[in-house]
Amino acid sequence: MEIIAVANQKGGVGKTTTAVNLAASIHAKRKKVLMIDLDPQGNATTGTGLEKLALEYTLADVFIDDIPINETIVRSPAGFDVIGANRELAGTDISIMTMTNSHALLKTAMESVSGYDYVIIDCAPSLNLLTVNALVATQGVIIPMQCEYYALEGLADLSQTIERLSELNPDLYIRGVVRTLYDGRNTLTRDVSAELEAHFGELMYKTIIPRNIRLAEAPAHGMPVLAFEKNSKGAKAYRKLATEVVKQSRSAQ
Ligand SMILES: Nc1ncnc2c1ncn2[C@@H]1O[C@H](COP(=O)(O)OP(=O)(O)O)[C@@H](O)[C@H]1O
Ligand SMILES: [Mg+2]
Repeated sequence: MEIIAVANQKGGVGKTTTAVNLAASIHAKRKKVLMIDLDPQGNATTGTGLEKLALEYTLADVFIDDIPINETIVRSPAGFDVIGANRELAGTDISIMTMTNSHALLKTAMESVSGYDYVIIDCAPSLNLLTVNALVATQGVIIPMQCEYYALEGLADLSQTIERLSELNPDLYIRGVVRTLYDGRNTLTRDVSAELEAHFGELMYKTIIPRNIRLAEAPAHGMPVLAFEKNSKGAKAYRKLATEVVKQSRSAQ
């Protein structure tokens, strides 16, 4: 079972879109997938067709009230399993702060989860204790990056964070960096993309996720883009990314 966090402390870079559509595209390859939503906004949850306010449990119940994690898993309309999030998760990072092992609550809980090939975790756009929990529970991190000037500015922070967390999680590594919301007609986009390649080298996924309106529309219909419009550029790109991600597992064996 590989646990992958989709993280970047910047908001609006395509984390949630990547988590949902990567989960859906890996699921379409007949792999067993669990997606975990760790953002109180619950957008990833909604994106799989679940009604976030109707969730019986979130991870808040696991961390604070000792509800068994397996009871929080639901089958989403998108076809794969999900641990959903909603505003009940807001403030959980503060509530768990004084607990022993507060950074490893998810890692500990995940020890009773089995039967999945991939667990994909969608993180909130901050480095709060929930995100730390995700980074402690995972092996690889996938970093979505929008090719704009400020992406480069955030780069140092991100690398530093991952370095610091490697004390808590020696297995932590950057599985890959994926360019999102890409508009190749824009010169700045191309320049930043080239700089990211220079900085990350082999860590860059070859697949680039284009700016594609279908990717933005699909969540309003509670569907991954694969179900919403499977021949769109966005759907094709995420299928390709899923192939790259799954291939990494094979070559690591
Ligand atoms: N490749 C894309 N093309 C078009 N719109 C996108 C794309 N990726 C994300 N979006 C839209 O951009 C916004 C931010 O994306 P989101 O995945 O929620 O980012 P994050 O989770 O990093 O905050 C959302 O409205 C989403 O629908
Ligand atoms: Mg998000």
